Amino acid sequence: MFELKLEKSWYDAMYRRSSVRTYTGAPDKEQLDRLGVLCRKASWQGVTIRMFKGPGLKNQIKGTDVYAVIIAKQNAPAEMEGFMGEALVLEATAMGLGTCWLGAGFHRDVVSRNVNLQNDERINCVISIGKCEPKAFNPKRRELEKICGKTEEQLAAIGAWQKEAVMAARIAPSAVNMQPWKITADGSSVTIEEPQFVLYKKYAALDRGIAMLHAAVGAHHVGREASWKKVDGGYAMRA
Ligand SMILES: Cc1cc2nc3c(=O)[nH]c(=O)nc-3n(C[C@H](O)[C@H](O)[C@H](O)COP(=O)(O)O)c2cc1C
Repeated sequence: MFELKLEKSWYDAMYRRSSVRTYTGAPDKEQLDRLGVLCRKASWQGVTIRMFKGPGLKNQIKGTDVYAVIIAKQNAPAEMEGFMGEALVLEATAMGLGTCWLGAGFHRDVVSRNVNLQNDERINCVISIGKCEPKAFNPKRRELEKICGKTEEQLAAIGAWQKEAVMAARIAPSAVNMQPWKITADGSSVTIEEPQFVLYKKYAALDRGIAMLHAAVGAHHVGREASWKKVDGGYAMRA
C-alpha cells in the first residue's frame, strides 16, 4: 500500500509549493506529456489520475483550463487520493508549474461526465495546473510543537528521517488549511492520525494522505524508503 517511486526533485518542490489560483497560461505540450507520465505512474492501488483541458474549473481559478481529476474506487482509502494526487502536485511544482487542490472549485457535473464516472467510483477533488509567476514560500501552519509535541532539535535527536518526515508533513496543504493531523515520532516510526477534534472532517483522510506523501518524500531525502501500516485513526510509517 502507498507504493510509489519518489523523485528527488519533490523534496525541494515541497519547500517551494503554495496554492496558485491565478495562472499565466496552460502548461505547454511538453509539460503535459511529462505530467501524463506521472499520472500513469500514480494511477494504481484504487486511484486513477486523468488530465483534462477545457471546461470544468469554477471561475475562482483564472488563466488555465487544465486540471487533473483524482478518480478513486469506492473501496480505496481516501488517503490514497491525497497521496497520489500530491505526487502530481510536486511533479508539477518541480517543473515550475503552479497547482491548486480543489474540493469545491470545480463543476462536479461537467467533470463526472468528462471522466464517465462509474457507480463504483468517486471524485473528491481535482487539481488545477498552469504556468504562473513565482510565488514567495510562506506557508501558514501550526507550530511544530503543537502538531507533534517536539521541537526540531528533539526530533533530530530521535533520528534524521523522523525529523525530515515530520517537518515535511507539517507543511502539506490541506482543505481550508485545517491541518487535521496529529503526528507522533519515536525511534521506529512516524504516525499521522486524526486529532481528537476536527472541525471540517470531509477531507481529513484525503488531507492525511497528502501529509503521508510529504513524510515519505522527507524520509526519502535522507535515504530511507517509507512503508505504511494502518493504525487506529491513521497510518504509521517505518523507513
Ligand atoms: C483536499 C483539499 C481541497 C481544497 N479545496 C480548495 C478549494 O475548493 N478552493 C480553493 O481555493 N482551495 C482549495 N484548497 C487549497 C487549500 O485552501 C490550501 O492548500 C491551504 O489553504 C494551504 O495553503 P497552501 O496550499 O498555499 O500552502 C484545497 C486543498 C486541499 C488539500
